[in-house]
Amino acid sequence: MDPLDNFKAAQRAGWAYFAPLQAITTTAAARLVKFAHVKPGMRVLDVACGTGVVAVTAARMGARATGLDLTPELIQVARENSRIAGVEIDWHEGDVEKLPFEAGAFDAVLSQFGHMFAPRPDVAVAELLRVLKPGGTIAFSTWPPELFIGKMFGLVGRYAPPPPPGVSPPPLWGDPNVIRERLGSAVKDITFDRAHMLTPALSLPHFREFMERTAGPVIKLTETLSASDPAKLATFRKELEAAAADYFDDNVVRQDFLMTRAVKA
Ligand SMILES: C[S@@+](CC[C@H](N)C(=O)[O-])C[C@H]1O[C@@H](n2cnc3c(N)ncnc32)[C@H](O)[C@@H]1O
Repeated sequence: MDPLDNFKAAQRAGWAYFAPLQAITTTAAARLVKFAHVKPGMRVLDVACGTGVVAVTAARMGARATGLDLTPELIQVARENSRIAGVEIDWHEGDVEKLPFEAGAFDAVLSQFGHMFAPRPDVAVAELLRVLKPGGTIAFSTWPPELFIGKMFGLVGRYAPPPPPGVSPPPLWGDPNVIRERLGSAVKDITFDRAHMLTPALSLPHFREFMERTAGPVIKLTETLSASDPAKLATFRKELEAAAADYFDDNVVRQDFLMTRAVKA
């Protein structure tokens, strides 16, 4: 199998357990939909939609929403979410790097903590902008490398086996300078904002265990280390709890994120 296909298959397997985290990303979804100025009737694509929290929020505001994700288990939950919310959404299993939509099909293309996990940013950006109409809005939320979740993924990257050549670290998508460079002259009017998400946790070990059960890259790493190097796993766990300690207060872990909005030139 091609190394990138292999990498994506491992991602798909890891993200299959993400659904309980939708309780936390639901609040951030409302922030992103507002920030993107979604309006009734707009054709909105939610890329790497997971359980569809952004698409469902946009549809509840009257948008014609479509959601796409790599992981079939999450698309199944997304279908259930749209049924419960009483909204029609066009759901697709698919890859950010190869979107199954026509050029210019959408008025807004959104991604919440999603497209940042596609291995090749240049390919992902080309696809996101291809399916967006000229004058349409691209908007996404990402984890800055210097804040907690970015640090957590940095830590996972240091303990995990190296990814195949050409795979970019996801938290680079949280750096405004990198974002400007990646979007380049294909967009205008880039605007940034910040917001935060709060994850309830009874203790730091509770938080760590929750990540080990729900966050794809953490799941894969702990699986690998528990089979190959339990001592290294113990050190990783200590480091993860120590990193989270700076953001843990009043039984919540604070997770700040960056929001980016731009208009396709
Ligand atoms: C952190 S979750 C975010 C899910 C959702 N957007 C939310 O905010 O709740 C990351 C998502 O990216 C998806 N993903 C990762 N790589 C992808 C790819 N190449 N194409 C499509 N989806 C991808 C995963 O399946 C997972 O659902």
